Amino acid sequence: MSHPIGVIAGTGLYHLPDLTDVRHEPWSTPFGEPSSALRRGKLDGVDVVFIARHGDPHRLAPHRVNYRANLWALKQIGVQNLLSINAVGGISDIAAPGALVVCDQIIDYTHSRVSSYSDQYGEAVRHIDLSEPYTPRLRQAWLDAARACDEAAHDGGVMAVTQGPRLETRAEIARLHRDGCDVVGMTAMPEAALARELDIGYGSLAVSANWAAGRGPAAEITMEEIEQTLKIGMARALRVLRAALHLSQH
Ligand code: HPA
Repeated sequence: MSHPIGVIAGTGLYHLPDLTDVRHEPWSTPFGEPSSALRRGKLDGVDVVFIARHGDPHRLAPHRVNYRANLWALKQIGVQNLLSINAVGGISDIAAPGALVVCDQIIDYTHSRVSSYSDQYGEAVRHIDLSEPYTPRLRQAWLDAARACDEAAHDGGVMAVTQGPRLETRAEIARLHRDGCDVVGMTAMPEAALARELDIGYGSLAVSANWAAGRGPAAEITMEEIEQTLKIGMARALRVLRAALHLSQH
Protein backbone atom coordinates (compact mmCIF):
# COMPACT_ATOMS: atom_id res chain seq x y z
CA MET A 1 0.00 0.00 0.00
CA SER A 2 1.38 3.42 -0.89
CA HIS A 3 1.35 6.29 1.55
CA PRO A 4 0.50 9.64 0.00
CA ILE A 5 1.51 12.78 1.88
CA GLY A 6 -1.60 14.53 3.19
CA VAL A 7 -1.99 18.28 2.81
CA ILE A 8 -4.71 20.32 4.53
CA ALA A 9 -4.79 24.03 3.83
CA GLY A 10 -7.13 26.70 5.07
CA THR A 11 -8.00 30.28 4.24
CA GLY A 12 -6.22 31.50 1.12
CA LEU A 13 -5.24 28.12 -0.39
CA TYR A 14 -8.03 26.00 -1.82
CA HIS A 15 -6.22 23.80 -4.30
CA LEU A 16 -2.72 22.77 -5.25
CA PRO A 17 -1.76 24.25 -8.61
CA ASP A 18 0.29 21.88 -10.78
CA LEU A 19 -1.15 18.77 -9.15
CA THR A 20 -1.22 16.24 -12.02
CA ASP A 21 -3.13 12.98 -12.60
CA VAL A 22 -5.76 14.36 -10.21
CA ARG A 23 -8.51 12.10 -8.99
CA HIS A 24 -11.37 13.63 -7.01
CA GLU A 25 -12.33 11.01 -4.50
CA PRO A 26 -15.60 11.66 -2.67
CA TRP A 27 -15.25 10.00 0.69
CA SER A 28 -17.61 9.23 3.49
CA THR A 29 -16.63 8.20 6.98
CA PRO A 30 -18.47 7.00 10.09
CA PHE A 31 -18.18 10.63 11.21
CA GLY A 32 -19.66 12.22 8.09
CA GLU A 33 -18.22 13.90 5.03
CA PRO A 34 -14.79 15.53 4.83
CA SER A 35 -14.64 19.26 4.04
CA SER A 36 -13.99 18.59 0.35
CA ALA A 37 -13.46 15.68 -2.00
CA LEU A 38 -10.03 14.19 -1.49
CA ARG A 39 -7.90 15.41 -4.38
CA ARG A 40 -5.22 12.86 -5.03
CA GLY A 41 -2.48 13.39 -7.55
CA LYS A 42 1.23 13.93 -8.12
CA LEU A 43 3.05 17.11 -7.26
CA ASP A 44 6.63 17.17 -8.50
CA GLY A 45 6.48 13.38 -8.58
CA VAL A 46 5.22 13.03 -4.99
CA ASP A 47 1.96 11.19 -4.29
CA VAL A 48 -0.22 13.80 -2.54
CA VAL A 49 -3.78 13.95 -1.23
CA PHE A 50 -5.27 17.37 -0.58
CA ILE A 51 -8.24 18.57 1.46
CA ALA A 52 -9.47 22.18 1.47
CA ARG A 53 -10.17 22.59 5.19
CA HIS A 54 -12.99 25.08 4.74
CA GLY A 55 -14.29 23.46 1.54
CA ASP A 56 -13.85 24.75 -1.98
CA PRO A 57 -15.34 27.30 -2.28
CA HIS A 58 -14.82 28.41 1.32
CA ARG A 59 -18.10 27.58 3.05
CA LEU A 60 -17.24 26.01 6.43
CA ALA A 61 -16.55 28.19 9.45
CA PRO A 62 -13.71 26.89 11.67
CA HIS A 63 -16.12 25.48 14.26
CA ARG A 64 -18.10 23.74 11.49
CA VAL A 65 -15.17 21.90 9.94
CA ASN A 66 -15.63 18.15 10.37
CA TYR A 67 -12.11 17.56 11.65
CA ARG A 68 -12.84 13.94 12.52
CA ALA A 69 -14.05 13.13 9.01
CA ASN A 70 -11.06 14.88 7.42
CA LEU A 71 -8.48 13.02 9.47
CA TRP A 72 -10.31 9.69 9.25
CA ALA A 73 -10.54 9.93 5.44
CA LEU A 74 -6.83 10.71 5.18
CA LYS A 75 -6.00 7.75 7.41
CA GLN A 76 -8.19 5.47 5.29
CA ILE A 77 -6.44 6.53 2.11
CA GLY A 78 -3.08 5.65 3.66
CA VAL A 79 -1.71 8.99 4.87
CA GLN A 80 1.01 8.70 7.51
CA ASN A 81 2.36 12.23 7.25
CA LEU A 82 0.22 15.34 7.11
CA LEU A 83 1.40 18.85 6.26
CA SER A 84 -0.95 21.60 7.35
CA ILE A 85 -1.02 25.27 6.41
CA ASN A 86 -2.78 27.77 8.69
CA ALA A 87 -3.52 31.44 8.20
CA VAL A 88 -2.97 33.18 11.54
CA GLY A 89 -2.90 36.55 13.23
CA GLY A 90 0.44 37.69 14.64
CA ILE A 91 0.73 38.32 18.37
CA SER A 92 4.47 38.46 19.07
CA ASP A 93 7.33 40.08 17.17
CA ILE A 94 8.17 36.87 15.33
CA ALA A 95 4.83 36.97 13.52
CA ALA A 96 4.49 40.29 11.68
CA PRO A 97 2.09 40.11 8.72
CA GLY A 98 3.69 38.01 5.99
CA ALA A 99 5.90 36.02 8.39
CA LEU A 100 6.09 32.23 8.21
CA VAL A 101 6.22 30.40 11.56
CA VAL A 102 6.74 26.70 12.27
CA CYS A 103 5.07 26.47 15.66
CA ASP A 104 6.07 23.88 18.24
CA GLN A 105 3.27 24.35 20.78
CA ILE A 106 -0.46 24.91 20.92
CA ILE A 107 -2.89 26.28 23.50
CA ASP A 108 -6.47 25.29 22.78
CA TYR A 109 -9.07 27.98 23.61
CA THR A 110 -11.83 26.42 21.52
CA HIS A 111 -15.02 25.09 23.02
CA SER A 112 -17.89 22.83 22.03
CA ARG A 113 -15.97 21.12 19.23
CA VAL A 114 -16.02 17.35 18.91
CA SER A 115 -12.36 16.88 19.64
CA SER A 116 -11.70 13.15 19.96
CA TYR A 117 -12.48 9.76 18.49
CA SER A 118 -12.85 8.57 22.10
CA ASP A 119 -16.44 9.76 22.16
CA GLN A 120 -18.58 6.68 22.47
CA TYR A 121 -19.97 5.68 25.83
CA GLY A 122 -18.71 2.24 26.76
CA GLU A 123 -15.66 2.34 24.48
CA ALA A 124 -12.14 2.40 25.89
CA VAL A 125 -10.85 5.97 26.26
CA ARG A 126 -7.40 6.76 24.85
CA HIS A 127 -5.48 9.50 26.64
CA ILE A 128 -2.90 10.35 23.98
CA ASP A 129 0.29 12.20 24.86
CA LEU A 130 0.34 15.67 23.29
CA SER A 131 3.43 17.11 25.01
CA GLU A 132 4.75 17.77 21.49
CA PRO A 133 1.64 18.51 19.44
CA TYR A 134 3.65 18.79 16.21
CA THR A 135 5.73 15.86 15.00
CA PRO A 136 9.38 16.99 15.30
CA ARG A 137 10.37 15.25 12.05
CA LEU A 138 7.73 17.19 10.09
CA ARG A 139 8.55 20.48 11.81
CA GLN A 140 12.10 19.93 10.64
CA ALA A 141 10.88 19.15 7.12
CA TRP A 142 9.10 22.55 7.02
CA LEU A 143 12.19 24.35 8.34
CA ASP A 144 14.58 22.60 5.93
CA ALA A 145 12.20 23.26 3.07
CA ALA A 146 12.01 26.97 3.90
CA ARG A 147 15.79 27.16 4.01
CA ALA A 148 16.03 25.37 0.66
CA CYS A 149 13.63 27.97 -0.81
CA ASP A 150 15.47 30.90 0.76
CA GLU A 151 12.37 31.79 2.76
CA ALA A 152 12.68 32.92 6.37
CA ALA A 153 10.54 30.72 8.64
CA HIS A 154 10.67 31.13 12.39
CA ASP A 155 11.61 27.97 14.28
CA GLY A 156 9.16 27.58 17.17
CA GLY A 157 6.18 29.44 18.48
CA VAL A 158 3.00 28.94 20.44
CA MET A 159 -0.23 28.73 18.44
CA ALA A 160 -3.38 29.90 20.21
CA VAL A 161 -6.51 28.32 18.77
CA THR A 162 -9.68 30.36 19.21
CA GLN A 163 -13.24 29.41 18.48
CA GLY A 164 -14.01 32.02 15.82
CA PRO A 165 -15.33 32.71 13.34
CA ARG A 166 -15.15 36.22 14.75
CA LEU A 167 -11.74 37.73 15.32
CA GLU A 168 -10.68 38.41 18.90
CA THR A 169 -11.08 41.45 21.14
CA ARG A 170 -7.98 43.42 22.11
CA ALA A 171 -8.31 42.17 25.68
CA GLU A 172 -8.47 38.58 24.49
CA ILE A 173 -5.30 39.02 22.45
CA ALA A 174 -3.58 40.76 25.41
CA ARG A 175 -4.44 37.69 27.47
CA LEU A 176 -3.09 35.33 24.81
CA HIS A 177 0.10 37.39 24.77
CA ARG A 178 0.40 37.05 28.56
CA ASP A 179 -0.14 33.32 28.09
CA GLY A 180 2.92 33.22 25.85
CA CYS A 181 1.16 32.79 22.50
CA ASP A 182 2.93 33.99 19.35
CA VAL A 183 0.20 33.48 16.76
CA VAL A 184 -3.55 32.95 16.79
CA GLY A 185 -5.60 30.82 14.44
CA MET A 186 -8.86 28.92 14.56
CA THR A 187 -8.19 25.44 13.17
CA ALA A 188 -5.09 23.78 14.61
CA MET A 189 -7.29 22.13 17.23
CA PRO A 190 -8.71 19.60 17.33
CA GLU A 191 -6.84 18.77 14.09
CA ALA A 192 -3.46 18.18 15.75
CA ALA A 193 -4.95 16.04 18.52
CA LEU A 194 -7.01 13.93 16.12
CA ALA A 195 -3.94 13.34 13.94
CA ARG A 196 -2.14 12.05 17.03
CA GLU A 197 -5.08 9.81 17.97
CA LEU A 198 -4.78 8.23 14.52
CA ASP A 199 -0.96 8.08 14.68
CA ILE A 200 -0.63 10.42 11.71
CA GLY A 201 2.49 12.63 11.77
CA TYR A 202 1.47 16.30 11.77
CA GLY A 203 3.47 19.44 11.00
CA SER A 204 2.20 22.90 10.23
CA LEU A 205 3.32 26.10 8.56
CA ALA A 206 1.59 29.21 9.90
CA VAL A 207 1.28 32.23 7.61
CA SER A 208 0.68 35.52 9.40
CA ALA A 209 -2.11 37.41 7.65
CA ASN A 210 -2.43 40.41 10.01
CA TRP A 211 -1.47 41.75 13.38
CA ALA A 212 -3.94 40.29 15.87
CA ALA A 213 -6.32 42.75 17.56
CA GLY A 214 -4.48 45.57 19.31
CA ARG A 215 -1.00 44.36 18.29
CA GLY A 216 -0.53 46.51 15.19
CA PRO A 217 -1.03 50.17 14.39
CA ALA A 218 -4.50 49.75 12.83
CA ALA A 219 -7.61 50.34 14.93
CA GLU A 220 -9.37 47.44 13.24
CA ILE A 221 -8.60 44.40 11.12
CA THR A 222 -10.14 44.24 7.66
CA MET A 223 -10.72 41.23 5.45
CA GLU A 224 -9.13 43.17 2.58
CA GLU A 225 -5.90 43.44 4.56
CA ILE A 226 -6.00 39.73 5.40
CA GLU A 227 -6.70 38.71 1.80
CA GLN A 228 -3.96 40.97 0.40
CA THR A 229 -1.33 39.66 2.78
CA LEU A 230 -2.39 36.05 2.29
CA LYS A 231 -2.19 36.32 -1.49
CA ILE A 232 1.55 36.82 -1.23
CA GLY A 233 2.00 34.69 1.91
CA MET A 234 0.26 31.64 0.49
CA ALA A 235 2.27 31.79 -2.74
CA ARG A 236 5.40 31.62 -0.60
CA ALA A 237 3.91 28.87 1.58
CA LEU A 238 3.14 26.87 -1.54
CA ARG A 239 6.76 27.04 -2.69
CA VAL A 240 7.90 25.85 0.72
CA LEU A 241 5.26 23.10 0.70
CA ARG A 242 6.59 21.72 -2.59
CA ALA A 243 10.03 21.40 -1.05
CA ALA A 244 8.61 19.98 2.20
CA LEU A 245 6.75 17.22 0.35
CA HIS A 246 10.02 15.69 -0.78
CA LEU A 247 11.47 15.92 2.71
CA SER A 248 8.40 14.31 4.34
CA GLN A 249 8.61 11.00 2.49
CA HIS A 250 10.22 8.27 4.49
N1 HPA B 1 -7.25 35.73 14.72
C1 HPA B 1 -7.59 34.43 14.56
N2 HPA B 1 -7.40 33.77 13.42
C2 HPA B 1 -6.85 34.42 12.39
C3 HPA B 1 -6.48 35.78 12.48
C4 HPA B 1 -6.69 36.46 13.71
O1 HPA B 1 -6.38 37.65 13.85
N3 HPA B 1 -5.97 36.13 11.27
C5 HPA B 1 -6.03 35.02 10.49
N4 HPA B 1 -6.55 33.98 11.16
